[in-house]
Amino acid sequence: MSKRHRLPAAAPALAANAPPAEAAIGTLAGDVLRGLNATPRQLSSKYFYDARGSRLFERIMRLPAYYPTRVEARLLRRHARALLGALVPTAAPVELLELGSGDGRKTLALCRDWLKAGTSLSYRPMDISAQALERLGQRVARQLPALSVQPLCGDYFQTWPLPQARRHQVALFLGSNLGNFTDAEAHRFLRRVRAHLRAGDSLLLGLDLRKDPRTVLAAYDDPEGVTAAFNLNLLRRLNRELGMDFDLDGFRHYASYCPLQGVARSFLVSQRAQTVNSRVLGQSFPFGPGEVIYTEQSQKYERAGVDAMAVACGFAVHAWFEDPELPYALVACRAQA
Ligand SMILES: C[S@@+](CC[C@H](N)C(=O)[O-])C[C@H]1O[C@@H](n2cnc3c(N)ncnc32)[C@H](O)[C@@H]1O
Repeated sequence: MSKRHRLPAAAPALAANAPPAEAAIGTLAGDVLRGLNATPRQLSSKYFYDARGSRLFERIMRLPAYYPTRVEARLLRRHARALLGALVPTAAPVELLELGSGDGRKTLALCRDWLKAGTSLSYRPMDISAQALERLGQRVARQLPALSVQPLCGDYFQTWPLPQARRHQVALFLGSNLGNFTDAEAHRFLRRVRAHLRAGDSLLLGLDLRKDPRTVLAAYDDPEGVTAAFNLNLLRRLNRELGMDFDLDGFRHYASYCPLQGVARSFLVSQRAQTVNSRVLGQSFPFGPGEVIYTEQSQKYERAGVDAMAVACGFAVHAWFEDPELPYALVACRAQA
């Protein structure tokens, strides 16, 4: 990573494979303790993204069945100029703040187009995965060296960069990440984003929409087993970082989709009666055969619900770009006074 792309020291940057910082252990330990003592047991999907998890997610994005990445990339390419018009009302310089950017692959196509249109653009990708940001920095250096990039490694629920003066802020939340939140969490997240923007600033959401349940389910249950490896990697991470002794062969990935609620869910299912111990947490967790750990939800949206949620959180939907082949939308929102 070039000097220009170095991660800021203020954020809790975790280098790939480095021992986690004290603060990060505290958060992970507290969340895991709460989650494994809850009914049903659950683990936050934000812990998927250690070095190995980030690499596995990059493989998921290339899977034929995982349509969200492909469709969203197509929409960003097709509507890049119209998005500029919808998100940036004046010729002001733009600060593009991407929340949970991952490797930023899709966003670079948008940046390239906006630079071509003469936009003065500053890109601030933010992610808890230092490894994903490292890759993003390398990608920018290779593909778009003219772009000014300031990556920030941190949790968007805990830290936020100060907006640059005199730049119109555009926050991006792509990959249908919003769908990983429950309804209440999604509202809390959007209100937090609104509180950090100025009236008139913009937010672009990439949201997966309801569609044939078989298409949705296939995206979370690929025959190649990459999603299963991604899900199980969470246990590997807890073994390493919390001194746990999960037997990775003792749990299996299971995905479901409920078309009534529009929610895809991922679980890890205990294959037998077993007890898992943690040195760091000082607790043992007995599992029965078939007992699940709920690891991720992916909400599929409908337009009316999105409009209502935006308004409830201080935004108005300004433009809606939907894929004609597979229901998926880019939703341009404006922060209201
Ligand atoms: C599903 S991936 C999507 C990546 C990218 N937005 C895309 O559309 O391809 C989710 C990304 O959000 C990051 N992430 C998850 N929870 C986060 C949090 N609380 N704060 C910051 N980043 C987070 C993960 O590290 C991961 O890179």
